[in-house]
Amino acid sequence: MNLEKEMNEFAKANHVPVMMDEGVELLIAKVKEYNCKSFLELGTAIARTAIRVASLDPEMRVVTIERNPEMIEQAKINIKQSGYQNQITLIEGDALEVELPDQKFDCIFIDAAKAQYTRFFKKYSPLLNSNGIIVTDNMYFHGLVEHPENTNNKNTKDLVRKIRNYHEFLSSLDEFETTLYSKGDGVAVTRRK
Ligand SMILES: C[S@@+](CC[C@H](N)C(=O)[O-])C[C@H]1O[C@@H](n2cnc3c(N)ncnc32)[C@H](O)[C@@H]1O
Repeated sequence: MNLEKEMNEFAKANHVPVMMDEGVELLIAKVKEYNCKSFLELGTAIARTAIRVASLDPEMRVVTIERNPEMIEQAKINIKQSGYQNQITLIEGDALEVELPDQKFDCIFIDAAKAQYTRFFKKYSPLLNSNGIIVTDNMYFHGLVEHPENTNNKNTKDLVRKIRNYHEFLSSLDEFETTLYSKGDGVAVTRRK
């Protein structure tokens, strides 16, 4: 079985929250459009996106950060099996706690804990190259950002409020402009003005 198929089946069987296919395709299209050669991902999960991005170009360098030991274990297996281990660096730890990588990136992909998006952006945006992009997934959060009345769960309501705050935070930034794409679960692409 090929690795992509294996990873998809593993994700399904183990309820691993991987990016929706439409979102992945948009992300890949943007990485190509902006000619990105360095990619930082917050939230590796099983390294499905990290491997896909690394496979785009032998020059591509991917750094990806994950805090969950079970995900880390599976990500390592998949990265090794993919053959892209020379292009992918997996940092183990909480993205809000680990030391900043000592390099800049053409693309920063924010896909870790949704409640922390604003903190991730503040911590990692200084690492963005001048023509680079920051991509954030789950901007719609299953339609609940537009229709928060569709849930009564307090934790979900809290999360939705934090994602809405992140929308407002992005709009309030003077040096950045953001375009929101209705692909997958809603994908934001932010770049310097
Ligand atoms: C939606 S999944 C990532 C999917 C992956 N980016 C992909 O495209 O296949 C979110 C991952 O972020 C990890 N995560 C959440 N908060 C984190 C944090 N503060 N630091 C590092 N990893 C985090 C979770 O353990 C989970 O594996």
